Formats: sequence, structure tokens, C-alpha cells
Amino acid sequence: MRIDIITVLPELLKSPFDASILKRAIDKNLVEVYFHNIRDYTDKSYNQVDDYQFGGGAGMVLMIEPIDKCITKLTEQRDYDEIIYMTPDGKRLNQKISNSLSLLKNIIILCGHYKGVDQRVRDKFITREISIGDYVLSGGELGAAVLCDTIIRLLPGVLNDETSALTDSFQDGLLAPPVYTRPSEYKGMKVPDVLLSGNFGKIEQWREEQAHARTEALRPDLLD
Ligand code: ADE
Repeated sequence: MRIDIITVLPELLKSPFDASILKRAIDKNLVEVYFHNIRDYTDKSYNQVDDYQFGGGAGMVLMIEPIDKCITKLTEQRDYDEIIYMTPDGKRLNQKISNSLSLLKNIIILCGHYKGVDQRVRDKFITREISIGDYVLSGGELGAAVLCDTIIRLLPGVLNDETSALTDSFQDGLLAPPVYTRPSEYKGMKVPDVLLSGNFGKIEQWREEQAHARTEALRPDLLD
């Protein structure tokens, strides 16, 4: 999979890709991630990429021309399955969306900033708009990092244990059951006996019951 991220702040985005699972995925060539600075595509002085909005009002708007140049350069080089815009008014991200995006070959992610992008960018290029939650971030960069993390961990070979993405919360519409590690007793707090029993049928049944109970208690909306 190849992910091209278009942003005015590549430095804000890079560190999540430089550690742990995402770094390993990139190092193993399971995913290619490229950052494109919108400022590299402007002819204006001071590398200007934004301007006041027509009609007045507070906040700057990212201009269409540099974004058009960047997206056009990329789409001339290869076909993209989706051109995604990160925005608080997009569809709220969930596991199902991440699962389906993880099956694609090439995607572009455009990060908004300030008041967002000129609407004509959205009308002309964008195939999907995604929000990571009902709150406003200073820009789409942190949202893009979240989106990429959810996608990349699903790619074959990225997680050591192939089943571990499948047992994540939300993969079966339920929250994950509780997990424990050594010691089996700490200051009088014991790990449930069933997990130490070696009876995998019983353990699986316990986990299923716990997942249901947890979901009912914490996120009953998921059961609807
Ligand atoms: N940009 C600003 N707020 C955002 C959000 N909640 N999700 C995605 N992109 C954003």
C-alpha cells in the first residue's frame, strides 16, 4: 500500500511514523508513506498557500492552486483509489472504514488547516471526507496520523501475531475483553482462575462473555 499525505505541516506528522509498529511496517516495505508540503507547490512570495475568505470572516483558507498542482502531479504518476480530506464535518471514522481502506493500493490524504481548504478542492478532487471525532483539531495532521495508524496495523505482516488485529476492540462489534500478565497475584489482586486453567475452550468462552458484558456496560450503543 502507498499513502501520500498532503499538508502544510509535515513536521507535525512525521514522528508517529518514526516509532513502533508504523516504523516497522515502513522498514519492512509493507507500506510506503510520503509527505508532500503544500508550500513546495506555490509560486507566491513567502511561500504563501492561504488567503482571506471571500465574503469576509475570521480565518485563512488554503488556496486551490498549490493543492491542485500537488494532487495533479501525484495522479499523473499513478491511479489513486481514494483522495481523502480530513475534516471535522466528514464521516466519523470507525473500524469498518479503516478495514475497507486497508484493502486499497494507493490513497492520498489531504490535511486541512486554518479554516480548511477552498471548497473547490473538495468538489473537484476529494472522494471521501473523514473526521476522527466530534471536536475541532487545529489541522487535519493529527487526524491523518490516527487514520494511518488504524489502517497500517491491519496490513498483512505488520502485526507479529496475525490474529491480534482480529481480536481488537470493534473488530467484531464488541469491546475487547480484559487482559492480564504476570504476576498472577499482585498485592492480593488475582488474575481470574480461568485464564490460568489451560482450558482454551473455557478461556475463549470467558473472553466472549467478558467482551459482551463490557460492551453492554461501557458502549451499549454498539449492541444496537
Ligand atoms: N481537522 C480538524 N478537526 C478534525 C477532526 N475532528 N477530524 C479530522 N480532521 C480534522
